Amino acid sequence: MMQQWFKDAKLGIFIHWGIYAVNGIAESWSFYHDGISYEDYMKQCEGFTAKNYDPKAWAKLFKSIGARYSVLTTKHHDGVALWDTKTNDLSVVKKTPAARDLVKPWVEAMREQGLKVGLYYSHLDWSHPDYASIYREDERKNLDKLVRNRYTHPSGEEDFEAWERFLKFHREQLKELMTEFNPVDLLWFDGDWEKSSDQWRMPELREFLHSLNREVVLNSRMWNHGDYRTPEQGIPIVRPEGPWEFCVTVNDSWGYQHDDKNYKSVRQLVRMFAECIGMGGNMLLDIGPMEDGTIDPEQEKRLLGLGEWINKHEEAIFETDAGLPLGHFYGPSTLSKDKKTLYLFCFDRPYDDIGVKGIRNKIKKASVVGTDIELNHRNMGGAPWLNIPGILWINVQEESLDKNCTVIKLEFEEELDLYRGTGQNIEVN
Ligand code: GLC
Repeated sequence: MMQQWFKDAKLGIFIHWGIYAVNGIAESWSFYHDGISYEDYMKQCEGFTAKNYDPKAWAKLFKSIGARYSVLTTKHHDGVALWDTKTNDLSVVKKTPAARDLVKPWVEAMREQGLKVGLYYSHLDWSHPDYASIYREDERKNLDKLVRNRYTHPSGEEDFEAWERFLKFHREQLKELMTEFNPVDLLWFDGDWEKSSDQWRMPELREFLHSLNREVVLNSRMWNHGDYRTPEQGIPIVRPEGPWEFCVTVNDSWGYQHDDKNYKSVRQLVRMFAECIGMGGNMLLDIGPMEDGTIDPEQEKRLLGLGEWINKHEEAIFETDAGLPLGHFYGPSTLSKDKKTLYLFCFDRPYDDIGVKGIRNKIKKASVVGTDIELNHRNMGGAPWLNIPGILWINVQEESLDKNCTVIKLEFEEELDLYRGTGQNIEVN
């Protein structure tokens, strides 16, 4: 069920941690696409030590930068569980030198810092012997055109009993997660696309999960039987309907890859984050720890940079909703819950004034968030007799500018009153 905490959370930290960090290759996809043999991929188990794993330090870091929740990959498409599953032997507990449950201490550490706990779980499992047992229904009609993948498709006849066994295993793993780490605040699913909603029995799955915990928030990678959308890597242009969360990597990879130095800058992260909250969404920023549990200093630096900006601008971020619709101001904005304060996010350096259109309210005060600076402003033009406001020009001087993104605070006496028209002829003067 959607929860208010999620809508108010704004920032979450996504963690892709698994054996793929050993060689520093793509999580699961590297063997699926034959970049490495399955056997060699699994050999990474031998090098996965988690020897410097310090989830308490992770939690402190996330908390300090303003994140309100975090999501950890408990099992990616490769099928390697990070917790001590009783359903099979494919876990870091049984197959790697780490030899212990890594989810449990993580959950405890997050809770200690007051962060909500999100568990990523891949429905599909390219290691499970019963998984590649049936086709998705719509594939059966086009078998001749289908590019078959051995991890996904049956090699011979379909085996429906095997699929039943797989579903049982899938439910059992989820039950383990939901009971052992109860209460899980969020289940972050992935990998629904290889079988249909009917084959996964998604509505039944939703009920099952709710029978274990009514409150759990579910993302929509359950053929849309979840609670919110998850646009990924490509930032939305149009505001998605309903609650949503943009997941994005700090460089180009979900997991740790030694060679990937294509990092987003702090300023770019700040901008993306402001875009998300301006459209009422959250940002789930992904990092990929190394096999030993170290967070790469380059990744940490960016998290801290984003956090510094968030901490300075807290009031414009938390306890706010989406701001102005497009067209009023050339940048994102947020609105306080009482609708009496508007926050404008300025990405670029203004020449002198910045303009905001369509505001009917009288401005009580204009200021710069995180400073004592008050700003001069004036309203020019408009057709007051038709209740069409002019342009509000706010004068922003060099000394007001934040190095990453300046936030202007506009305070009104009353709730924001917006003009949304197309203009009008003046018939009576
Ligand atoms: C994609 C990828 C997967 C990654 C996920 C995160 O679905 O398949 O590797 O974990 O995005 O959103």
